Formats: sequence, structure tokens, C-alpha cells
Amino acid sequence: MTDSTIAEKTPIVMVVDDEALNRKLVSAMLKPQGYEVIQAVDGEDCLEKVRQVPPDLILLDIIMPKLNGFEVVTSLKSEEQFSLIPIVMVTALGDVNDRVQALEVGADDFLTKPVDRMELRARVRSLLKVKAYNDHMVNYRQELEFEVRRRTLEIQETNKKLAKAHEKLRGASLETIFRLSRAAEFKDEDTGAHIISMSRISARLAQCMGLSTATVESILYASPMHDIGKIGIPDRILLKNGPLNEEEWPIMRLHTIYGGKILENSDIGFLRLGEVIATTHHEKYDGSGYPKGLKGKEIPLAGRIVAVADVFDALMSRRPYKMAFTVEQAVTIIKEGRGRHFDPDVVDAFMDDIGKILRIWNSSQAEHNSELKGTLEEGQV
Ligand SMILES: [Fe+2]
Ligand SMILES: [Fe+2]
Repeated sequence: MTDSTIAEKTPIVMVVDDEALNRKLVSAMLKPQGYEVIQAVDGEDCLEKVRQVPPDLILLDIIMPKLNGFEVVTSLKSEEQFSLIPIVMVTALGDVNDRVQALEVGADDFLTKPVDRMELRARVRSLLKVKAYNDHMVNYRQELEFEVRRRTLEIQETNKKLAKAHEKLRGASLETIFRLSRAAEFKDEDTGAHIISMSRISARLAQCMGLSTATVESILYASPMHDIGKIGIPDRILLKNGPLNEEEWPIMRLHTIYGGKILENSDIGFLRLGEVIATTHHEKYDGSGYPKGLKGKEIPLAGRIVAVADVFDALMSRRPYKMAFTVEQAVTIIKEGRGRHFDPDVVDAFMDDIGKILRIWNSSQAEHNSELKGTLEEGQV
């Protein structure tokens, strides 16, 4: 910091004295130095003028009517915006008591009456220099604070944008996965409704079983991928209009292995869960399922949950090779599978919440049908 970096405005000096002659004398000594001089006729006048135009220095007489010099100093030093204005008290020669009191109330310097021109100019020059440095530091601090606030806002704004972009990217990834899963279903069951309702019912069951919100959400996004491995099954088996024979079934069962292969080794949580679900959704609680014949709690919970939702939706839906079961029939089949095909805990959660699950199933069908209608109408345009 150099003198040139300090504000170059004309310094304002206020001369406060009830004697007009004194004010005139002091003003005459200062004006040739290039200062702007303001005069105040007493303490009250001083306080009023300070509020209008805060000076850079005050030369203050002590004995004045209304408010004396000490009272003026006390008042100014108590207000933050004026507390840094240097005040020089003008005292009678040798009046020690005045000087002590002036120091106690916060005056910065003294001058003795009658005022000596050289001494006055030297004191004023040096105190104005201090004042200019002080002002500079105050401005610098304010600028810094302003800059910090500005940058903080900028960072907050950037973070908001990043979070939005991240959310958008996440949405795009999820939608891509959902649409790819739908593509895999399309050929086989010709119904996107299946992955909508089975994923929502899976998530609902997970919720009813007390799993965390994050896990419930992961199951919602991962379960549509359960049959993604069907992409690898030949059409002659996948699209066969009738029951599969002994040679075809083992091939069909490979869709669990293929699904696991498609999704394996991902860093993304719900894709890892997708792998688990794709691999285990045909395992059965009693160990009679495939591909590994896992038993009971050996089957990951997500696989046990999705097994119930998947079979329930399949039973409720019409397929080229079968009619839809009624709600009663479908529920009976799930109940009969308790402890054999299905985890008893998952079946219990399913039965306890059957009303809500049916509502989810119905709304998923309705949603899919309206989407399908929209697609057909668009195609006709
Ligand atoms: Fe499957
Ligand atoms: Fe399925």
C-alpha cells in the first residue's frame, strides 16, 4: 500500500470553536495547505455538521456553550461511523486536568492555545495520514467482505446448477434403463405394463417390509431389468405359442444368467441390484428354483420380493398363451406359494397390504393403456 493508493479526495477539517476569531485564525492557517475547512460554532453545531458531512479531522475547543468539548468527543466516539475521525483538542497551556480528561474520553491529540501555525500544520498532516490509512483499510475490508459474499453466492449458484444437471442426468439414465428393459419385454410379453406394475409392487412390498427409502427406490429402478436377459433367448423359444419342451426350458432359464452378465460389475448401486434381481428372481424359497436352486434366505431379499411381484402381475395379465386370472385366483396362488415358491415374510407383507397393491396394479394398467392410446393416435396422424 502506498500513499497513491489512498483516496485522493481533498481532506475536510472541521474547526469547532465558539470564538469566531479563533475559527478564522485556524482556518486561515489550514486553507493554504489545500484542505477544505468547515466551521462549527459550538458542540451541538459540530455534531449536526458531522452528520451532514463527516470530516477527516476535528479541531475541537473545550470550553463552549451547550455541549463542551469532552461531551462532543464522548458522543462521537460512541458512534461507530464517526469513531475513527481523529479529534485534536485545543486546550489552554499547561492545563493538565483537561488533557487527562480529554485522553480518557478518547481524544487523539492536543494543541495548546494560542495555536502555533507550524505545529498545527504538522499535527493535522500526520493525523490526516493516519485517517487516510484507516479509511483505506476499512474500504479494503468492506471490498473483501463484498467479494467473499459475491463469490459465495456464485458458488451456491453453481452448486444449484450442478445439482440440477446431476438430477437431470440421473433421470436420463433411469429412463434409458426403463426403456431398454421395456424393449426386452416387448418381444416377449408385448406389454410395457408388466414392468411398470411389477416394479411398483416390488417397491411397495420393500416399503412394507421396512426397508430404507433408498433401497425401496433402488428396487423400483432395478426391478424393471429383471428379464433383460431375455434379449439373449432365441425367438423360436421366447415367442413359442405353447408350452416349452424339455430341450427348450433350460435355454429359457438362461435369461437369468444372461441378465446377470449384462448387468455385472457395475459401480452404480441400482445396476448392481439389477444384477442381483435378474439372477435370482426365479429362485424359489424351497430351493426348487433356478438358476442355482438357492434356498430360503440364501436368496437375496430383493430377489424374494421381486419373485412375488413378478408372478402376481404375470397371473393378473392376459398373455397370448393364457387368459388373465381373477384377483381371487391370483391371490390364492400367491398364498399357496407361501414357504414353497415364495418367502413367507414377503407373502405376509403382500397379504397385509393387498388393497394398496391392487390399487397400484390398476393404476399402472390405466397409465400404460392411456400411454398406448396416445402412441396409436400419434401413429395415425
Ligand atoms: Fe424372468
Ligand atoms: Fe417378468
